[in-house]
Amino acid sequence: MAVKKARIVIVGAGMAGITAANRLHSVSASKNLFEVCVVEGGNRIGGRINTSEFGGDRIEMGATWIHGIEGSPIHKIAQQIHALESDQPWECMDGNDNKATTIAEGGFVLNPSFVHPITELFNNLMDHAQGRMSTATTKGESGILSIGSFLRQGLDAYWGSSKEEKELKGFGKWSRKLLDEAIFAMHENTQRTCTSVADLLTLDYDAESEYQMFPGEEITIGKGYSSIIESLASVLPPGSVKLGRKVTRIEWQPERHEAMNMENGTRSRPVVLHFSDGSVMSADHVIVTVSLGVLKASIRDDDSGMSMFHPPLPSFKAEAISRLGFGVVNKLFMQLSPPHGTRDEHSRGFPFLQMVFHSPNSELRQKKIPWWMRRTATLCPIYNNSSVLLSWFAGEEALALESLKDEEIIKGVSDTVSCFLSHSVEFCNGNGNSEKHSQEYKVKFSKVLKSQWGTDPLFLGSYSHVAVGSSGDDFDKMAEPLPKCSSSSSHPSASPPLQILFAGEATHRTHYSTTHGAYFSGLREANRLIQHYSSC
Ligand SMILES: Cc1cc2nc3c(=O)[nH]c(=O)nc-3n(C[C@H](O)[C@H](O)[C@H](O)COP(=O)(O)OP(=O)(O)OC[C@H]3O[C@@H](n4cnc5c(N)ncnc54)[C@H](O)[C@@H]3O)c2cc1C
Ligand SMILES: *[C@@H]1O[C@H](CO)[C@@H](O)[C@H](O)[C@H]1NC(C)=O
Ligand SMILES: *[C@@H]1O[C@H](CO)[C@@H](O)[C@H](O)[C@H]1NC(C)=O
Ligand SMILES: *[C@@H]1O[C@H](CO)[C@@H](O)[C@H](O)[C@H]1NC(C)=O
Ligand SMILES: *[C@@H]1O[C@H](CO)[C@@H](O)[C@H](O)[C@H]1NC(C)=O
Repeated sequence: MAVKKARIVIVGAGMAGITAANRLHSVSASKNLFEVCVVEGGNRIGGRINTSEFGGDRIEMGATWIHGIEGSPIHKIAQQIHALESDQPWECMDGNDNKATTIAEGGFVLNPSFVHPITELFNNLMDHAQGRMSTATTKGESGILSIGSFLRQGLDAYWGSSKEEKELKGFGKWSRKLLDEAIFAMHENTQRTCTSVADLLTLDYDAESEYQMFPGEEITIGKGYSSIIESLASVLPPGSVKLGRKVTRIEWQPERHEAMNMENGTRSRPVVLHFSDGSVMSADHVIVTVSLGVLKASIRDDDSGMSMFHPPLPSFKAEAISRLGFGVVNKLFMQLSPPHGTRDEHSRGFPFLQMVFHSPNSELRQKKIPWWMRRTATLCPIYNNSSVLLSWFAGEEALALESLKDEEIIKGVSDTVSCFLSHSVEFCNGNGNSEKHSQEYKVKFSKVLKSQWGTDPLFLGSYSHVAVGSSGDDFDKMAEPLPKCSSSSSHPSASPPLQILFAGEATHRTHYSTTHGAYFSGLREANRLIQHYSSC
């Protein structure tokens, strides 16, 4: 009887897929156990890692930071391949602790002594939620539903314990309480981009303490995040990563029919993949690494018959997919036009600007600031004196950004900047008694580049989070292979095990939403197969 090598097809050439291929290859190369290939729907490897270039600087459209260097496998690889430094300037090459200038809408520069207490309050509350502070409550017993409601309770308690409202002079219509609230909201907006939620009221409170970070500083990668992926892919035999191969359908066999079992005396492969070009491929095992967004779309299409999985995924899996959260986060890069004249404002460099906005429905808000800028916390050069500015967007605002024309973005950001950097009360607030020497601050942008993770059909979002109504258990369900193990697996008519395995950022219970989470998940599924074959 002919013995075929097990064929493993990995769907997706992002961090999880390439890591799994790398691991399987390193084991298989010596023992000749598997036939491994990676099929990728896009025309490049890397997935949500997408290093690019803008204005002469190296930038990241997707994954940006190594979130804590101590114990990070990504950091280890970056060190090994000497990717941490570069001759070409790169995003955040001087770290992320540049001194920010905090300005309130209308051009009121805020003294750090104003901002600091609220920043400290916010950080303490987040530390508490993440379980880095004592008084840990038993899961579910806190009675608090979301991070958003927890934070607002904390702000209310802060106000309740502080002295009566202080007079505030020289800040236009801003009161102390409005300012506190707006500074707090600025930190909430940063949190929205970190967690990829549209609204913190939908971010589960209890799950937050399960999320793990590596200790140590957070840094970016000089030669680009893509250098990590390229390094992992470089050991794979030529041709094993196939680009432009979008999977449209995966047929598997939860219950195997004996008649289909034999084909010329050898086992036929239980899984069949269909591609958008009409081609077909069979496999013994498929590791699916597509994003949670793509999985959500694939189960939404169940009724229309467009579902990716045939038969459809079992309900435990489909329910975990629909309960977990997957939001949109986008990055916007803008290049400042070169300064004209000698004593131009720009020659001093654009500040690391933190923006404190009036709430979106406040009477006091500046009408010329577009709604999609109002929840943007920062607008900063990507390193000291760079002419490239960066802002992060989340939720609706991030999605809106994807459909805006470059000219609309340039106008919207320029109008916002002039409301913050023109140091004139009159200019922005229009209240009569302002200083008359108003100096309008005009910036000119020559070009923009934005990511489009929400609408790209290969991603349909940015990264996962635990939505209210979901829990850490759902990540474990995401990771379970199909068909689900049954006690009768030794029974001859049982279907072949490990037909569909799941890897990817959204299958890791404690490191979801990160590149290293994706990396660990790829290793986990490769090891699951290696172990399966070493024990039989
Ligand atoms: C804006 C942004 C900022 C981020 N910042 C950070 C950060 O600072 N630090 C950090 O650690 N992480 C960050 N992340 C998260 C990190 O990028 C991801 O967690 C990680 O890259 C996910 O890897 P993956 O392999 O799970 O998925 P992916 O990278 O999405 O890989 C899946 C692959 O499957 C392909 N695919 C999809 N559908 C099909 C199909 N039907 N057929 C074939 N192929 C298909 C896709 O094209 C993709 O290449 C960020 C992400 C974004 C979007
Ligand atoms: C950038 O500027 C800040 C202060 O403006 C300074 O503290 C920091 O060291 C600078 N970084 C580099 C790399 O020059
Ligand atoms: C193997 O089986 C297929 C049908 O499943 C048949 O078409 C083919 O001729 C067979 N090949 C051999 C070598 O027997
Ligand atoms: C930034 O520019 C200022 C003034 O032009 C200069 O003094 C400073 O050294 C520059 N910093 C860096 C890191 O290039
Ligand atoms: C990846 O980067 C390129 C620029 O190099 C950009 O055109 C593309 O839109 C990016 N992909 C996504 C999904 O943002």
